[in-house]
Amino acid sequence: MCCCLTKHLPQGGTITKIILSLGFLLFSTWLAIAAEKTGDRNSTMRGKYIVEHVAMCVQCHTPRDQTGQLLLSRYLEGAPVPVKAPANLRVEWALKAPAIVGLPGYTREDGIRLLMEGITPDGTMPKAPMPPFRFIRADAEAVVDYLKSLS
Ligand code: HEC
Repeated sequence: MCCCLTKHLPQGGTITKIILSLGFLLFSTWLAIAAEKTGDRNSTMRGKYIVEHVAMCVQCHTPRDQTGQLLLSRYLEGAPVPVKAPANLRVEWALKAPAIVGLPGYTREDGIRLLMEGITPDGTMPKAPMPPFRFIRADAEAVVDYLKSLS
C-alpha cells in the first residue's frame, strides 16, 4: 500500500519534506521568540540591578523617613536632595531629584541619551549632584527599559 502510494504520487516524498521543513521553521521561530523574551527579562533585571546597586539612582530619587531609611513605598518617586552643595564647588546644585518611575517626559531614546551622554531631551545637562553618566548602550537600554516597566 505504502509502495503503491509513493508510486502513484511521486511527489509524496517532496510533500513530506515540505511539511517537515515548515515544522522545523515554525519550531525555530518559536525558539527564537522564546530566547528573545528571556533576553528582555534578563536585560530588565540587569536594569534593576544597575538602578539599585551600581549607579545608585535609588539613593537620590527615593525619599527617606526621619531615620534616613529609604521609603520603598515611594520607590523612585522623587526626593529632596539631602545634602547642600559644597561651599567651594561652583556648579548649579539641584534641590530636588525628580520622579523617574516610568521616566515621564522621556522617550526610550531620550532616556538612553541621558544615560550615555548626560543630555536631557531639551538639550541641557541636569544640575549636580545628578551624575553626568556615560553608560554603554546595553546598560542604558537595560536601565531605561526597567524604569519604563515600572509605570
Ligand atoms: C547623587 C544623586 C543622584 C543619583 C545617583 C542619580 N540622580 Fe538623577 N537626578 C538627581 C538630581 C538632583 C536631579 C535633578 C537635576 C536638576 O534639577 O537639574 C536628577 C535628575 C534626573 C533626571 C531628570 C533630568 C531632567 O532634567 O530631565 C532623570 C531622568 C534622572 N535624574 C535619572 C537618573 C537615573 C536613571 C539614575 C541612575 C542611573 C540617576 N538619575 C542617578 C540626582 C541623582
